[in-house]
Amino acid sequence: MDAPIDFRPVLRRARTGACRPEDMAVVAAAAAGNQIPDYQLAAWLMAVAIHGLDEACTVALARAMAGSGGAPPVHPGLVDKHSTGGVGDKTTLVVAPLVASLGVPVAKMSGRGLGHTGGTLDKLESIPGFNVHLSRTEFARLVEGVGVAVGAQTEDLAPADGRLYALRDVTETVDSRPLIASSIMAKKLAGGAPAILLDVKVGRGAFMADVGDARALARLMLHIAHQAGRRAEALLTDMDQPLGFAIGNAIEVNEARATLVGDGPRDFTSLVLAVAARMLALAGRPDDAERLVHEQLASGRAFTRFLAWVRAQGGDDELLQRGPLPLAPVRLELPAPASGVVTSVDPLAAAQAALRLGAGRLRKDDPVDPGVGVRVLVKVGQSVAAGAPVAEIYGRSDAAAEQAAQLVAAGIDIGPVAAPRPLVLEHLFA
Ligand code: URA
Repeated sequence: MDAPIDFRPVLRRARTGACRPEDMAVVAAAAAGNQIPDYQLAAWLMAVAIHGLDEACTVALARAMAGSGGAPPVHPGLVDKHSTGGVGDKTTLVVAPLVASLGVPVAKMSGRGLGHTGGTLDKLESIPGFNVHLSRTEFARLVEGVGVAVGAQTEDLAPADGRLYALRDVTETVDSRPLIASSIMAKKLAGGAPAILLDVKVGRGAFMADVGDARALARLMLHIAHQAGRRAEALLTDMDQPLGFAIGNAIEVNEARATLVGDGPRDFTSLVLAVAARMLALAGRPDDAERLVHEQLASGRAFTRFLAWVRAQGGDDELLQRGPLPLAPVRLELPAPASGVVTSVDPLAAAQAALRLGAGRLRKDDPVDPGVGVRVLVKVGQSVAAGAPVAEIYGRSDAAAEQAAQLVAAGIDIGPVAAPRPLVLEHLFA
């Protein structure tokens, strides 16, 4: 721990909802330099989760966290994306190599599982050997070499967010608009891309269930980007049912792999194409972006780039070239209780099931189990026959799989008619 500081004045102000932009520099420095214990940071996070932060303090916090490992660089030509978090959201795994294979390099700082949502870093680490701990130099080397780099917060890349993020995950302080906006934008500013596409999730599986709240979060992040001189756009996208079928770590890598070889779920593939097209446009390639990404995905070149990227970050690309990653040994199939139309698939129920199986953390230092997970096989609006499989569970024991199956089952409703929501709900510009 560096020299301790007296954090109590910042806590005293936060307790009553008061904030000064200067306090944000103290929070970021104290978090990054390990100058205060976890309990003081957790108390501050809880105060912010309850009272919020005003816009000036949120911008100041994002910028202070972005600079907590050194001044954020800007690398012309790079493009980045970030999702606010959802269930089954493995978009980066496909979009990054897809966009890079079209000549636009992607450098991205990602997160681990947060609350009920999965994290790109945990998913990537389910590939044997994959290294997400990149220094600035390694980031630059990867961008130069394969055109894709995805890494964690490290000592020289937004370390303050790394510490706060891990504490939020286990202190019920995740779904706070200023904390989400500053956390995401700290990583985006530190990543160095001048162009950023934000995928803001809306629905029961997102941190913002309501479209108005999601729009406000999107506007706040766009404002931070603008203040920092970056170009940004936001898509508001549906998270009222899981994205794709797979929820977990290796199981999501497998679904990303399937998508890269042309066999992905329809909803997930269409989101990948929408996000990739906007990233190309933001990077200055607006003409025919939709056609380009569509043809590129179909050509298999994005899969080749995916394997090269996995290899460059130390992962076992040969394993992925041969086929999907292995999953946990106990596989349980969940049958539809009745015939009809699927009217609801609760993403929270499926996410809780994956968490209970061991795909996420209950405590800060818990390991995640790469092989467990859930595959929900049905979508809202789809017809099913009684007894047909609606989900598959992959667990380490019969009891764990049974328990998860019950959770998933409670979240699937079947009725006479359903009203599916569109996947992309709104498009916002800075
Ligand atoms: N993703 C992040 O990086 N941070 C959040 O707070 C939420 C989603």
